[in-house]
Amino acid sequence: MANTTLGLPTDLHDYLLRVAVREPAVLRRLRAETASMPEANMQIAPEQGALMTLLAELTGARRCLELGTFTGYSALAVALVLPPGGRVVCCDMSREWTDVGRRFWAEAGVDDRIEVRIGPALDSLDAMINEGASDSVDFAFVDAAKEEYPAYYERLMRLVRRGGLMLFDNVFWGGDVVNPEVDDSDVRGIRELNERLAADERVTVAMVPLADGLTLVRRR
Ligand SMILES: C[S@@+](CC[C@H](N)C(=O)[O-])C[C@H]1O[C@@H](n2cnc3c(N)ncnc32)[C@H](O)[C@@H]1O
Repeated sequence: MANTTLGLPTDLHDYLLRVAVREPAVLRRLRAETASMPEANMQIAPEQGALMTLLAELTGARRCLELGTFTGYSALAVALVLPPGGRVVCCDMSREWTDVGRRFWAEAGVDDRIEVRIGPALDSLDAMINEGASDSVDFAFVDAAKEEYPAYYERLMRLVRRGGLMLFDNVFWGGDVVNPEVDDSDVRGIRELNERLAADERVTVAMVPLADGLTLVRRR
C-alpha cells in the first residue's frame, strides 16, 4: 500500500507529480474522492498510474486483468488507453468500492470496457481458467491479497499468454520484506513471490523501486 514513492523526499515527489505525471482530469477527480476515505492509502500512486498507462500503450494490450480494484484508479489508468475492443476484467471482494470506480469509469466513457467480478480473486481466476481463457491475457495487474500472491502467480502463468506482461504491486511491503521482525502472512506471501520470480526461468523480471515496489514480469 502506498500512494507515494517509498523513500522519495516529499519535495521531490511533488516535483515529479508536477512535471512528469500527466494525470487526466477524471483520474485526478477519482483520486480526490478516494483521498477522503479512511482506506485512501490503498490506492496506487499517480506516478505508478502513469507507468501503467505507458506500459498498456507500449504493449498494445487488449485483454487486461486486474486483481484488487478498490475505487478503480489503476483500472481507469489502463482502460483509458485501450485500443478498440480492449477490456479490463476487475476482480475484487467489494461491490461498494468498485461502485465508486464505476461512476468515474462512466464519466470517462470507458465503463463498457470494464467488467467487475465480485468475489475472492482466486475463485475468479479459477473460473476464467475453466471458461477457457488460458493463454489469452495480455496484461495483468496484481494488487489484491498479499498472502495469495504466489497462488495468483501460479494461475496467471496459465492465463497470461506468452509475451504477456504481469505487474505485481507492493513487492517491498513498506520495507517489511527485509525486516526480520515481521513475519505475518502478507509479508510471507510477498517474500515467497519475490524469491520464486528470481529463480523462475519461464519469465523475464524487473523489480522497479517505484511507489511500494512494482515487479514487471514478462512470460517467455
Ligand atoms: C490495495 S487495494 C487495490 C488498489 C487499486 N489497485 C487502486 O488502484 O486503487 C486492494 C483491493 O483488493 C481487494 N481484495 C483484498 N483481498 C481480496 C481477495 N482475496 N480477492 C479479491 N479482492 C481482494 C480489496 O477489496 C481492495 O479493494
